[in-house]
Amino acid sequence: MSTTVVSSPTLSDQRKKVTVRTLAQMKARREPITMLTAYDYPTALSIDRAGVDAILVGDSLGMVVLGYENTLPVTMDDMLHHCKAVARGARYALLVGDMPFMSYQVDVQEAVRNAGRFLQEAGMDAVKLEGGRERLETIRAIVAAGIPVMGHLGLTPQSVHQLGGFRAQAKTTASARRLLEDALLLQEAGCFSLVLESVPARLAELVSRRLDIPTIGIGAGGGCDGQVLVTHDLLGLFDRFTPRFVKQYANLHAEMARAFAEYIADVQEGRFPAEAHSVEMPEEDWQALLAELEDEG
Ligand code: KIV
Repeated sequence: MSTTVVSSPTLSDQRKKVTVRTLAQMKARREPITMLTAYDYPTALSIDRAGVDAILVGDSLGMVVLGYENTLPVTMDDMLHHCKAVARGARYALLVGDMPFMSYQVDVQEAVRNAGRFLQEAGMDAVKLEGGRERLETIRAIVAAGIPVMGHLGLTPQSVHQLGGFRAQAKTTASARRLLEDALLLQEAGCFSLVLESVPARLAELVSRRLDIPTIGIGAGGGCDGQVLVTHDLLGLFDRFTPRFVKQYANLHAEMARAFAEYIADVQEGRFPAEAHSVEMPEEDWQALLAELEDEG
């Protein structure tokens, strides 16, 4: 007799891989898009299972994981290494790899080759790069190679020295108009989406309404088509500073400190390891070993 086992679909079975088209459809339906950063396998797994639409392997890696002052020292090798780990953990979210400083600014051909490595070697679905009108030729070339590009305007951390620090952008009439123009130019050049970072909420909303492609805001108010946060900020895992626009959903830094202190005290005071954490051997083998050793003197 043969039995057919029909397993009932789980929530994750019903989910479909998110693509750039999905994000466009979400904008059309006015459905908020969620994006978070991840840099490793377990975080990607957890974020993906929670149901986020897109995962950004951001070059914020340099600050929140590698401990640099800013994102400038991050290399292609760093990014590809972490993108590969994230790709192994995430199954459904759209995966966006952040192009690091100097991987796309020098030469268009080099930029296309580097963008291609994110898809070919590291399992990403798209790349993100910073900048406005000065990046149009590069973006057109990467898009022409079949690689989806997410733009990034406003506070662009790779220009931190030019901007005079991590400060909000586009707060004057002229700079706000320039940002709107840049957003329209990036859309025309083929970007499938734009990150708007640290810009006035009213401006971000206006830009989002004028564009056909979805905007993803960080410190840009609730009028964008989606939101992104650096996961280490959301989890309270980055202790150096927390930008004003971050909502902290946990304080894992404090929780980690508590757990480490408890472990140290347990070892020092003999509470760890207990019997439950130890490996045993059969009593007769143990006795035989002791007898053998005794015979050997
Ligand atoms: O690197 C990053 O995490 C980013 C986000 C802040 C958008 O660019």
